[in-house]
Amino acid sequence: MAGQIPQRFIDDLLGRVDVVEVVGERVTLKKTGRNHSGLCPFHQEKSPSFTVSADKQFYHCFGCGAHGNALRFLMEYDSLGFPEAVERLAGRLGMEVPREGADDPHAQARERKRKEGVNLLELSASFFRERMKMHEAVGARDYLSGRGLSAEIVGDFGIGYAPDDWEGLKRHLTERGISEAVQIEYGLLVHREDTGRTYDRFRDRVMFPIRDIKGRTIAFGGRVLGDAKPKYLNSPETPVFHKGRELYGLYEARQASNRLERLVIVEGYMDVVALAQFGIRNVVATLGTSTSEDHLSRLFRLVGEVVFCFDGDRAGRQAATRALETVLPLMIDGRQARFLFLPEGEDPDTLVRREGTAAFEDRITCASPLSEFLFDQAANGRDLSRVEECERYASQVLAALGKLPDGMLKSLMLGELSRRTGVDQSRFELLMVRNGPAAGESGDAPPPVEGGPPPRGEARTVRSESFSLVARALQLLVHEPGLVERLPDDDDWCPADDEDGRLCREVIKLLRAGRYRSAQVLLAHFHGTSEGERLAVLARRELLIPKAARGAELDGLIEHFQRYQRRRSPREEFDALLGKEKTGERLTREEKQRLMTLLSELRE
Ligand code: GTP
Ligand code: MN
Repeated sequence: MAGQIPQRFIDDLLGRVDVVEVVGERVTLKKTGRNHSGLCPFHQEKSPSFTVSADKQFYHCFGCGAHGNALRFLMEYDSLGFPEAVERLAGRLGMEVPREGADDPHAQARERKRKEGVNLLELSASFFRERMKMHEAVGARDYLSGRGLSAEIVGDFGIGYAPDDWEGLKRHLTERGISEAVQIEYGLLVHREDTGRTYDRFRDRVMFPIRDIKGRTIAFGGRVLGDAKPKYLNSPETPVFHKGRELYGLYEARQASNRLERLVIVEGYMDVVALAQFGIRNVVATLGTSTSEDHLSRLFRLVGEVVFCFDGDRAGRQAATRALETVLPLMIDGRQARFLFLPEGEDPDTLVRREGTAAFEDRITCASPLSEFLFDQAANGRDLSRVEECERYASQVLAALGKLPDGMLKSLMLGELSRRTGVDQSRFELLMVRNGPAAGESGDAPPPVEGGPPPRGEARTVRSESFSLVARALQLLVHEPGLVERLPDDDDWCPADDEDGRLCREVIKLLRAGRYRSAQVLLAHFHGTSEGERLAVLARRELLIPKAARGAELDGLIEHFQRYQRRRSPREEFDALLGKEKTGERLTREEKQRLMTLLSELRE
């Protein structure tokens, strides 16, 4: 990284540039009232549903939903990364893009190091590709065509051949001035401690370059041509390659389509390549590790739906259970995860070759939704007509639901659990509260640690309600920053004890400072952070109420929070508990304890 671009600069840039001009250079626009409109460049259409607003500095397509500011437009239209789009915009205004810490010698050294690594890996990748064309690679070419791969697919994935030679690559790189130390550091050369000798790590293998999202080669996977062991050899961890983070095929999937909606996760390199050969190009593979949260949050940044693909055997089932655990905390509304199980003894590569594209696509389309898989798995062999087994079933489902962020999916699944067990939903809500706090909605934060006595059911339910309400307030502000005018002068109403509440306070502060006249500029401010992701989710969700009613809704929310905070004063809580006891209702042990605590607090 060349150092972060300071946020101030991005804000400033967006303040100066005119989205109508930027779009107008690439799309023919006509002025229609306050807006400009034209044919949408992001989908095929005959009549214009693409509008650009100079007031809001924002484009929106009513046909395909594409929308954003000038930066977003450049990123999408010219397929640029965020920093490149900033450079391009700045360039037209003659502005130089500043970088944070650009003078920092450590940052400079890191940057030099990264360039050196990328350069060496690119050199190696082209070396392997060149070798694939030579006579010595006839065996490798036969092997690939034997596996049904065309020259075109081999080219798309940049697949090459590492010659059967101990020093082929080493000579090639050394002649180009790359030291052995660097070759070792990036995993291309192996150094033997005992003899001090160095030799090529990859020999006589088919070489799959592993590329990062921008297409830069960061590592390799090499497959033997026959049955020798190990079947696959991967680059070790290096300064640019962290196995647990990267996904094979992600760059290629993005190249194949600029409107990805769904990505399928498989196990092997060959599965990705074989499916691509059959025209299914939205596939990625983990690199011999199980799918991590890191993998999934990267994928969900690109698409709304992820389909896990597993072998039908026991190991596959186990892997699916792990994947379920990993994905649960990330399932905010609007995201989908599904589970596809293949017949035993097949992998995607063998199956697509046997069944063909359409049949495999049908399997993807029919993969079990997360909810279905979760219920099936908990039911696994249990006789739900027996009370104890039903109890275990419900506990298992509840434990899983406890990991889901609050939202529609969680509510619906609680309802479904209630339907399946015949137990009232409110009982489950109480149980879930007792089983501990749910993970934060963003899924990235650890669950909050509670101090003091265990929370009582009642207080908890109130809190979780306030959680989604503050999200609503935040959503209103994101859609309509102007509403900030209506807020009371102090922010006490806004809960400071959850993530959305804190984010809401920050947003309010920024809006009050007055530099953020549109949702897009606000989003740009948080770009690349988990807060930014959260805001983007809220911004994407439609408000579903007319503009005129929004102010009133916000007023109502604030009133609710103010009332709710009053209700939680110790005095009132104490009175409520006491009142409950006086009417003859039995208090639970926790409630009695809470009563004692409150009593001593109030005496002080
Ligand atoms: P093919 O036999 O070529 O079809 O490979 P595959 O992709 O079907 O591989 P398999 O299902 O055996 O393994 C899935 C993935 O696990 C591979 O793509 C590799 O990432 C990894 N893997 C398999 N075997 C090895 C091995 O011997 N060493 C290492 N490091 N990884 C392996
Ligand atoms: Mn295979």
